[in-house]
Amino acid sequence: MARAVMARVGVPAVYFSVARAAPALCNRSSVMFAPASRFSGRALNSTNLRQAVSSRTWQGVQVRARSTAQEEKVAVGDDIIDKINHDHRELEHFFQKYKDSHKQGDDMEARKWFNQFVWEVSRHAVCEELIFYPMLTNMGEEGKKMADEAIEYHHKTKEILADLQTTLDMDEFDRKMDKMWADLKEHMNTEESEDLPFLRDNTDVSSRENAGKTFALGKNLVPTHPHPAVPERPVALEAAVGLLITPLDKLRDIFTPFPSQNKSVN
Ligand SMILES: [Fe+2]
Ligand SMILES: [Fe+2]
Repeated sequence: MARAVMARVGVPAVYFSVARAAPALCNRSSVMFAPASRFSGRALNSTNLRQAVSSRTWQGVQVRARSTAQEEKVAVGDDIIDKINHDHRELEHFFQKYKDSHKQGDDMEARKWFNQFVWEVSRHAVCEELIFYPMLTNMGEEGKKMADEAIEYHHKTKEILADLQTTLDMDEFDRKMDKMWADLKEHMNTEESEDLPFLRDNTDVSSRENAGKTFALGKNLVPTHPHPAVPERPVALEAAVGLLITPLDKLRDIFTPFPSQNKSVN
């Protein structure tokens, strides 16, 4: 994506750091995830990265296959507003599945849906911090205030999710989860009723579509677990530190139980 176009959109310079880091990250991933032979033996560039992400031929990474299937079932526009709204609906679905499993007394299944929820909310949050909030910040005082409040909320949520990942008592876990969800719902409502309309009023469609494509690509590069110690502000060095965690998170994903494909969303 041309730097000039991205600058017009308001996507921060850190994007270019992300784009430069992508091949290196993917080469590491290719070792861990053993992608199909058509990608092995050569470095991934941004074009074949997208092909790899949309491919069904990844081996041994159930979660990636499930995500791809979801993306194919639900046609989501390129507009970053559509991408963010779509993610919010997915998070509602994952949380409901968690609650249903818990109500049925199936703690193992509830844990799997919690893992799915954390996986998605982690990627969603970091991409908003790298792409959406810097766009708001560049839109004057009002936009900056919205972004600052959202970033502060994200940080608290990451701390709660990190704490939940080590909470073993299921009733205590459920209480914390309910509180976290009530706050997250409020945050998503604010984004949908105030932040996203503000973005719509201050950008044109092509800017939002360019940002939406970056958002979608970024979700496959960013960490998949909460890391409250990593700063949310997209200063290039800080973002690079965050991205270095991604391969470790993806390795962790391999050993994390997720809901089976039979219980796929949508
Ligand atoms: Fe957010
Ligand atoms: Fe959001």
